[in-house]
Amino acid sequence: MRFRLGLLGHGTVGAAFHELLEDRAEAVEATVGMRPELSGVLTRSRGDFADLLERSDLIVELIGGLEPAREYLLAALRAGKHAVTANKQVLSQHGEELYEAAREAGVQLRFEAAVGGVVPVIRVIHETLAAAHIERVHGIVNGTTNFILSEMTRTGASYDDALADAQRLGYAEADPSEDVNGRDAAAKMAIVARLAFGAAVSLDDVPYEGIERVTGEDIEYARELGLALKLVGSAERVGGGLAVRVYPAFLYGEHPLAAVNGSFNAVTIESPAITEITLSGPGAGGPQTASAVLGDVISAMIPPATLPPPAIALPLVTDVESAFYMHVEVADRPGVLAQVAEILGLQGVSVKSVVQRGLGDNARLVMVMHPVLESRFDAAAGLIGRLDFVRSQPRVIRVIEETF
Ligand SMILES: NC(=O)c1ccc[n+]([C@@H]2O[C@H](COP(=O)([O-])OP(=O)(O)OC[C@H]3O[C@@H](n4cnc5c(N)ncnc54)[C@H](OP(=O)(O)O)[C@@H]3O)[C@@H](O)[C@H]2O)c1
Repeated sequence: MRFRLGLLGHGTVGAAFHELLEDRAEAVEATVGMRPELSGVLTRSRGDFADLLERSDLIVELIGGLEPAREYLLAALRAGKHAVTANKQVLSQHGEELYEAAREAGVQLRFEAAVGGVVPVIRVIHETLAAAHIERVHGIVNGTTNFILSEMTRTGASYDDALADAQRLGYAEADPSEDVNGRDAAAKMAIVARLAFGAAVSLDDVPYEGIERVTGEDIEYARELGLALKLVGSAERVGGGLAVRVYPAFLYGEHPLAAVNGSFNAVTIESPAITEITLSGPGAGGPQTASAVLGDVISAMIPPATLPPPAIALPLVTDVESAFYMHVEVADRPGVLAQVAEILGLQGVSVKSVVQRGLGDNARLVMVMHPVLESRFDAAAGLIGRLDFVRSQPRVIRVIEETF
């Protein structure tokens, strides 16, 4: 028996999927009892969507972007066809509409490749850990930025040189802005949060910061303090609500994400019942992503359907406790450290470690603080920035401590 797949998009992932399907169709048939076959391909220059839909049991959407991907996915689901997509943009902005359409039609919508490439983040959170009460997810979900930060750490390269290397080696697009500014990771964390916590989280709800302002000096001082710099997406329960954010953060050396280097992605899932699980692997690439897509197709060929249940309401929290690293240049004169410490103390910020280094007439203070509410730390950093002996605005990066 044949299982007919309509393929939308034949670019990096679409072409790799086509090739993988031809290679693996027989093995899939031996396992599932049906042979997956392409019923047709749609790109900008070939194919007709209505005709393809008519002749397919499942639509594989590998176009990317919002439209026409959203329109095609909705049409497929409403026509009672299963759908598989790798599209984080459409899921993070129109997920509820798509889940609802799939639920109403009683068909599957699968999207493993939308987060972490071939790393089975979606499946593990949504299916394997369905019984666990997830408290927090931390993820390195953008391979481009992880490659850049790893290169800066490994070779001492500047941000610009590491980005140029990433582009030369194919780890970064010609226009890398959505990767380096954190928006790509924010879209993926919105999808992860929806599954981990059941609340509707859209890309617009996720504040994000990128890595464009990270300097070699940040990384050098971090090394002295035993920290690794990563672009981290976090989604966690906070005081009855939910905080979902993306930001550059220092991780203590023992944190499972600290050793994830190069273009690899990784996600750490924390829950009291399971302690902690870390999944890591290639986060992108045509053949790798195609493998996750075919895995989803195979799952859809075998009922029953699994969809996120209707969303529950959870308030989104933005003022969250975090540990901080602060790096500030000051005039090298007596009493400076005491004044900085006093301001921190008045805001309830306690210092975990300090490195002070002379720079001629100036000195550089590098401090790591114990966890404190972000609003309190921001207030302290603002006051410190206004002191007359301060020679540069404080540079602030969050620090993630191993807490499980
Ligand atoms: N590349 C990766 O490593 C990776 C990893 C994880 C997830 N993804 C996701 O996978 C999806 C596909 O990415 P990709 O890298 O394969 O993209 P891509 O190389 O740019 O390919 C896009 C394909 O979609 C087709 N297309 C674009 N607009 C269309 C339209 N309006 N109607 C019909 N076809 C259209 C293009 O057709 P033409 O050939 O006619 O231009 C092309 O074949 C995206 O959602 C992406 O986020 C990619």
